[in-house]
Amino acid sequence: MTIIRNCINMGASPIQTLREDAPMNQPRISPRVPLIAAVLGAAACLAFAAPARAQEKVLNLYSARHYQTDEALYTNFTKATGIRINRVEADDAGILARLKAEGAASPADVILLVDAARLWRGEQDGLFQPMKSAIVERRVPAQFRGADTGQGPQWIGISTRARVVVYDKARVKPEQVDTYEEIAAPALKGQVCIRSGSHPYNLSLFGSMLERLGPQRTEAWLKGVVDNLARPPRGGDTDQIRSVAAGECAVAVTNTYYFARLMQSGSAADRDLVARVGVVFPEQAGAGTHVNISGAAVARNAKNREAAQQFIEYLTGDDAQRMLADGNNEYPVVPGVRTENPALAALGRFKSETVPVARVGANTAAVQQMLDRVGFR
Ligand code: FE2
Repeated sequence: MTIIRNCINMGASPIQTLREDAPMNQPRISPRVPLIAAVLGAAACLAFAAPARAQEKVLNLYSARHYQTDEALYTNFTKATGIRINRVEADDAGILARLKAEGAASPADVILLVDAARLWRGEQDGLFQPMKSAIVERRVPAQFRGADTGQGPQWIGISTRARVVVYDKARVKPEQVDTYEEIAAPALKGQVCIRSGSHPYNLSLFGSMLERLGPQRTEAWLKGVVDNLARPPRGGDTDQIRSVAAGECAVAVTNTYYFARLMQSGSAADRDLVARVGVVFPEQAGAGTHVNISGAAVARNAKNREAAQQFIEYLTGDDAQRMLADGNNEYPVVPGVRTENPALAALGRFKSETVPVARVGANTAAVQQMLDRVGFR
């Protein structure tokens, strides 16, 4: 049994090295298995993996989440149900590519991805199947589920994160950036840092803007953001925060959990950085801050369909919600579930937008065309 689990994990290791979501105190390249050894090991495992016993219940999980507390999440599920979890860890793009390559032969039962843009992509590519569940409908707000196909949504949010504006306290006042639209204001010319416009986190933010502002205003806004850039988009969200602290730019955009990680960092330099950088939840007087999800889906060709549904329903329980949120400094998707995260508590409560994440995902194709037109790389 252990062999199969280890083999699947080893097989995923080369892809795992590409992931972007690793907490900063965790190396991006697994120290356990050198790349070549992992590839050879995976090949060997494919040849020698013994089939599971006929009566043994298993669930094959492809996950883009890689957090310590997620371990307890899986262990508790196995304890409660007797269903053993085989896990493949890779980044979102790696998982989507792998599912496509495997096709009908894919062993995947459940897929965990981060960001609505990627979940929408997976749905468009026919990699998921719908899931109808009274438990999920009761627990997860419709705003955070995929569009209902008649047989239920194709994916379900399991945690949320907000996309916020950070600013240099010495150069910018919070009221200058308390709407997303102000990022394009002429006063901030040459002062904005942001990661690639085509990154799913930005595609989703811009998809939400498109829903709210319409195509003309959104495209004009995107053009304004490009005009305000301090440098060409590069790096991840944490790099943008660091650039603000270093004085390279005065304003940047980040997901909440990246800032929360820096707030919890043991390094004096990071604490110094956090002291210099302010955080604004935009649109508090208007539509609310853009909120995205990490989410779960049943794989198109799931062989363990029942276990897949059981697992996703389990993820909406109070304890699982807390573990999912705590694992990455996120917020539970189920209303009323509380976590005790000092960093998020310090950032404070905020009003979220109410646009369905499924609409945001559907808008990302149009957004990409706008980005191409305005030269937002
Ligand atoms: Fe991330």
